[in-house]
Amino acid sequence: MKIAVGSDHAGFEEPKPFYKPALVAHVASLGHEVIDCGTDGPASIDYPDIAASVAQKVQDGEADRGVLLCGTGIGVGIMANRYKGVRAATCATAEMARLARDHNDANVLCIGRRVLSLDECLRLIDVFLTTPFSNGERHQRRVAKMG
Ligand code: RB5
Repeated sequence: MKIAVGSDHAGFEEPKPFYKPALVAHVASLGHEVIDCGTDGPASIDYPDIAASVAQKVQDGEADRGVLLCGTGIGVGIMANRYKGVRAATCATAEMARLARDHNDANVLCIGRRVLSLDECLRLIDVFLTTPFSNGERHQRRVAKMG
């Protein structure tokens, strides 16, 4: 799949390893094509700008899925959900990531540097990128109601 990956400066917070490059490397190592939407260093950048870049690519079909990182995963999620066809899920556990796919057909995963370890982030990405939408009738109906 084509995966748009973006992070604000939280992805370059000390201590190392920096999360943003680790997420990009991990997604690529899974065999996906990464569309890197920045940022590229620790300079402060507004999370809505990064979230907009990722969400626009998902909305336009340039990316199949998105992965967004900020301090908590909350701000990027709020912004990404303003884009039509984007269903962004802020997740803190693997079960949330699984259900976001299985029930909500979420297409953007939002995670937080300040609330999750790097290993937890990578685990959530693995689950998010491998779990299919259930396609259950009730789930299809509910997702359709969100436009
Ligand atoms: C930036 O300091 C921080 O506010 C941002 O990364 C995010 O946590 C917002 O939701």
